[in-house]
Amino acid sequence: MTEAEQKVASRPKIVFVVAVAANGVIGREGGLPWRLSTDLKRFKALTIGKPVVMGRKTWASLARPLPGRPNIVISRNPDFEAPGAEVAPSLEAALTIALERAAAIGSDEICIIGGGEIYRQSIGMADVLHVTEVQAEVDGDTRFPPIDPATFEKVTEEDLPRGEKDSHAMHFVTWRRRTAPPGGAGV
Ligand SMILES: NC(=O)c1ccc[n+]([C@@H]2O[C@H](COP(=O)([O-])OP(=O)(O)OC[C@H]3O[C@@H](n4cnc5c(N)ncnc54)[C@H](OP(=O)(O)O)[C@@H]3O)[C@@H](O)[C@H]2O)c1
Repeated sequence: MTEAEQKVASRPKIVFVVAVAANGVIGREGGLPWRLSTDLKRFKALTIGKPVVMGRKTWASLARPLPGRPNIVISRNPDFEAPGAEVAPSLEAALTIALERAAAIGSDEICIIGGGEIYRQSIGMADVLHVTEVQAEVDGDTRFPPIDPATFEKVTEEDLPRGEKDSHAMHFVTWRRRTAPPGGAGV
């Protein structure tokens, strides 16, 4: 492994956690267009103990900071305050804070938890995508960017039947960024 490859391998991974409908919808009117208790449990298991980075509108959709995780909120508004979270003025600033928090708590991952604007701006930096494919087409106003199979490969997938507290059945897929070809651009 070259020195550059070692550096990349040892830095915390940038991990997306998202639930997406079959038509790409992830949100409606500032909230989630479904009720998926099973997915909320998976979300917690995937993010607990790790810094979570989110856009200001996603923060607004939460009732409170996500406990057990450093919360980092991105806003261009210099006066914006988010009690229980740190506010960053840009994606880059948020990732810098998240890296510091990850080092402080010994996390090897930084989780990007939305919403649409933040996923779109950061998918080029993501190492891993944990995607809950919601088995329905739903109405909404916020979408997830397309996942390019030339950039990401599916590494695991699992079907989950609709539980009593779920509005839809789900399919969990984990994608990992393909290694850049030798001499190629990328990492
Ligand atoms: N299904 C899922 O897994 C999932 C996950 C998360 C969210 N959601 C849904 O997605 C929707 C929210 O997504 P969204 O796209 O509307 O909003 P968002 O990405 O959560 O937040 C957008 C806000 O983030 C700030 N921002 C974005 N880019 C920035 C940058 N480069 N520098 C500084 N600030 C920046 C701006 O805040 P200011 O306006 O304050 O400057 C912007 O208005 C909601 O419906 C939510 O429920 C779904």
